[in-house]
Amino acid sequence: MALDEFLAELDQLAEAAAASFSQSSDTSSLESLRVQILGAKSGQLKSAQKGLGQMDPADKPLAGKHFNQTKKRIEEAYAAALERLETTSSTQEASCFDATEPGCRPRIGHLHPITQTIQELKDIFGRLGFSVVEGPEIEDERHNFDALNIDRSHPARDPLDNFYLASPSELVAAADGDDVIEGSLESPWLLRSQTSTVQIRVMEENPPPIRIVSLGRVYRPDTADATHYPMFHQIEGLLVDTDVTLADLKTVLRIFCSSYLGEDVHVRFRPSFFPFTEPSVEVDMQWGDGWVEMGGAGMVDPNVFRAVGYDPEQVTGFAFGLGVERLCARRFGITDIREFFKNDIRFLKQF
Ligand code: DAH
Repeated sequence: MALDEFLAELDQLAEAAAASFSQSSDTSSLESLRVQILGAKSGQLKSAQKGLGQMDPADKPLAGKHFNQTKKRIEEAYAAALERLETTSSTQEASCFDATEPGCRPRIGHLHPITQTIQELKDIFGRLGFSVVEGPEIEDERHNFDALNIDRSHPARDPLDNFYLASPSELVAAADGDDVIEGSLESPWLLRSQTSTVQIRVMEENPPPIRIVSLGRVYRPDTADATHYPMFHQIEGLLVDTDVTLADLKTVLRIFCSSYLGEDVHVRFRPSFFPFTEPSVEVDMQWGDGWVEMGGAGMVDPNVFRAVGYDPEQVTGFAFGLGVERLCARRFGITDIREFFKNDIRFLKQF
């Protein structure tokens, strides 16, 4: 290839490239031009470079130099075009920015309705002089049953009505592929089925007088329906002192109910039986034309005092346990407690 011809071809290429770069109106068309002209595999410059190989050896140094200059010219033209497009697009954006427009409000979450209810119940009982204590969710049979006067033959202890935890030997057997027969579990541990366990823990650790509430999760193998769920929350209360009567219990629960649900709520106490209270009552609240059961209560059974080393001749007390989901449902008119655990944002954001 003749030197003149080669040099002329390069000049033409550089001019055409500079013209197309300067005419391009957006960065994506500029980018396709760049690939077409400067592309490392099959760009126009790359094909022009092939002429260099066919050059007379004497002309090669000059041709090579001119090729490098041309490449530089084209690259500079590309860089200039890119800068032009980038600065115009950012000035356009800047001119659209309106500092007086309202901002986009970030979506801020909030506490779950059950957590909010728990906080409110703690507040109300705090004002009545009750302090808040916590208890473990994994319990032993002494705290869940024995010390609460629930003897071995009581149906509430049925392994099918509780979540017993597998013992280490049962886990080994299951891992070996042996069938672990339900109902034959030998584990002393279970997920607590009631918060009454905390009564025992508090009295074991503290002398009377006692005035506590404890709120938390409890577990029962119930099939979920509108009023049941295998995990739910209870609020447990315990007051131990001298000369405590059922009238004190009824007064505290009435004050609580009207604080939480409003002055006009009707509360009904129905005679009942719990192994750990004597006498025992069921606590109902009016809802529409009917009544809903909120939980149980009663005067602490002397056997419970004996189990924790208190003298039933010296002290008396009352206890109660209410369902937190039911209280919250009653307050907001929720008819299916499964709503609380579906995590449907449309339900939750109403609280
Ligand atoms: N623990 C009972 C239950 O889960 C509720 C209950 C009844 C709690 C009577 C009490 C009580 O403290 O005195 O069904």
